[in-house]
Amino acid sequence: MRDGLPHLTAVERCEALTDQDIADLTEATNAAIIEGGGFGWLEPQGQGMLERHFRGVLAIPDRELFLARLDGRVVGSAQLVRPPRNNEAQGATAQLTHAYIAPYARGHGLARGLVRHAEEWARAAGFWVLNLDVRASQEAAIQIFEGLGYTRWGTHPAYARVRGQLVPGYYYYKVLDSARRRGSN
Ligand SMILES: CC(C)(COP(=O)(O)OP(=O)(O)OC[C@H]1O[C@@H](n2cnc3c(N)ncnc32)[C@H](O)[C@@H]1OP(=O)(O)O)[C@@H](O)C(=O)NCCC(=O)NCCS
Repeated sequence: MRDGLPHLTAVERCEALTDQDIADLTEATNAAIIEGGGFGWLEPQGQGMLERHFRGVLAIPDRELFLARLDGRVVGSAQLVRPPRNNEAQGATAQLTHAYIAPYARGHGLARGLVRHAEEWARAAGFWVLNLDVRASQEAAIQIFEGLGYTRWGTHPAYARVRGQLVPGYYYYKVLDSARRRGSN
């Protein structure tokens, strides 16, 4: 779809998924998995498994789902994970995870938009810090996260196992702007 034609892009926090959304999420998620990343899965999953996953994300209180749309159709997603309730000391820290855009919808600014939208939502919900981690091989994602102000604070040399090989990963954090202001008062 990177064809030079005008496209309608949108990012949103998801409260409900239509059957069309589920079908589109399945296609987008599997396309990203096949291309090589963005989700914990290494092999494409059936629609039933992905529907249970995404409906589960909507049902449980400790996760928020964000969607990216191109011309109205879902082409990517990201999730925010809240800390467990007993972790009061890290109660203002959320984890940004499972961010991906389907290969056929890349290059339209949707990933940046999705991350920014999740950040705005997190800030408004009272979070001060976002953490995330990414395989060291995900160059586009690294470029985007660093461009959006995420600080790399560590490298895990045995971060994940992909096709029988241990691969390194990078750990990032970002202090959200309003928290910075509050901290400096
Ligand atoms: C990372 C990803 C989400 C980007 O999606 P996207 O919608 O194309 O991203 P955007 O259009 O918002 O931004 C494009 C930016 O990506 C970066 N980028 C794209 N391809 C790149 C590459 N091969 N090498 C380095 N940076 C690259 C550039 O910074 C580019 O910005 P520019 O167009 O201004 O130069 C997508 O490539 C993806 O899903 N990758 C696999 C999953 C993943 O790595 N997820 C993150 C870990 S959870």
